[in-house]
Amino acid sequence: MKILRKAIETRSETRAAKLQGKRVGFVPTMGALHEGHISLIRAAKSQSNFVVASIFVNPTQFGPTEDLAKYPRPFEADRQKLEAERVDLLFAPSVEEMYPPDAGTLVTAEGITDRLDGRSRPGHFRGVTTIVAKLFHIIEPDVAFFGQKDAAQAAIIKRMVRDLMFSVEIVIAPIVRESDGLALSSRNAYLSPAERKQATVLSRALREVEKRYRDGERSSAKLIETAREVFAGELSVHLDYIEIVDRDTLEPLSEAQAGSLVAVAAFAGTTRLIDNLMLR
Ligand code: PAJ
Repeated sequence: MKILRKAIETRSETRAAKLQGKRVGFVPTMGALHEGHISLIRAAKSQSNFVVASIFVNPTQFGPTEDLAKYPRPFEADRQKLEAERVDLLFAPSVEEMYPPDAGTLVTAEGITDRLDGRSRPGHFRGVTTIVAKLFHIIEPDVAFFGQKDAAQAAIIKRMVRDLMFSVEIVIAPIVRESDGLALSSRNAYLSPAERKQATVLSRALREVEKRYRDGERSSAKLIETAREVFAGELSVHLDYIEIVDRDTLEPLSEAQAGSLVAVAAFAGTTRLIDNLMLR
């Protein structure tokens, strides 16, 4: 696996691969890799024949009071995991490489970014669309892989690709979970043993909503009430939002239907966790 720190060198590599007729698959990450990330790498391996991963803890998507400084950066362990998956190229730039000191051009998806996490984390998705657009320009992938775990991010990236006519196919891969239901996240490392147990309340609440939906309930208000009851049994976890929305526009729905997204965010201690499920 080649490791490159410079955008220009990375672009030369991926262009050379394309000239050889290769299909370039790209998996952007912030590192601290877990099985959720690895599932994206494996999807990329199966759908392309030159796989690029990036590791970059993107400062512009963190709010001023968020965890940028303490975000885990276990580079050597990450490198070994990617090597074991036979990734072709790792792009791991510095902040200076990605953001010139006077960088003032941002990519913003309007409207859709005011919902769910966008409402709770103002500016977060502008940071995400800006960095992903830059990474797409550097790597010029044929196909890029994102996780359903970050459902709002997935919808916003698809919107950006459509609106700005990027020539890249977007694949969304399913959520990878621990055996007790907790969605894998680099931020789970922050949880104390007690918080780790309590954190299953997110997936438990989602499962209850799904059960009630399958029993025939379609009112979003009633389905959300069900989730709130589950949270009421875990008082130490603080709900940020639970919403039923259209999975493409993220607009709230008064009636749930097949394909609707149930999205939840909550704090276990100071750690913000998110989870979601698609109703079937
Ligand atoms: P990061 O949180 O490192 O996640 C990288 C990718 O892994 C994202 O597409 C995310 O949805 C996916 N992922 C995380 N946990 C997952 C899980 N349990 N199951 C399946 N996929 C999972 O998301 C980001 O980084 C950044 O916002 C980024 C897109 C890299 C831009 O900076």
